[in-house]
Amino acid sequence: MKKVITYGTFDLLHYGHINLLQRAKNYGDYLVVGLSTDDFNAQKNKSCYFSYEERKKMLEALRCVDMVIPETCWEQKTEDVKKYGIDVFVMGNDWEGKFDFLSDFCEVIYLPRTPEISTSRIKKELGENGKKNGQSQTEAE
Ligand code: CTP
Repeated sequence: MKKVITYGTFDLLHYGHINLLQRAKNYGDYLVVGLSTDDFNAQKNKSCYFSYEERKKMLEALRCVDMVIPETCWEQKTEDVKKYGIDVFVMGNDWEGKFDFLSDFCEVIYLPRTPEISTSRIKKELGENGKKNGQSQTEAE
């Protein structure tokens, strides 16, 4: 069985996340997601709308995700790759080159991000007026 791993925060799960996870799964048979814990996010100065348990539940409901493990620090990736017998490490290309050191242990692949969507953007736009694409509610309907 070919095993794939990817990492992220996956807050306010959106279609960019789904695209990434489905493409990651296509590199193998079993997809492990390292999901950033709330404590680790705090270290990265990131705050999530959904808690770790809520984000985990949503990822586990996806057909392409087989297992969710906690990501608690930057340094755990090499150990995870060994521990879970990972063949392929996948990340979006906003991380291009950052995890090349893992290529001693598995294949390392950076996939193009889906354009024009991110958790930050959703938060920003909803924070501004609660409407998609900055439209007013009546325009959006
Ligand atoms: N991702 C992607 N395309 C997007 C958004 C995210 O391929 N449009 C990928 C990232 O490259 C990463 C994974 O999804 O490999 C998880 O990204 P995450 O940082 O949790 O999501 P973002 O939407 O980028 O969140 P933020 O805006 O808070 O950085």
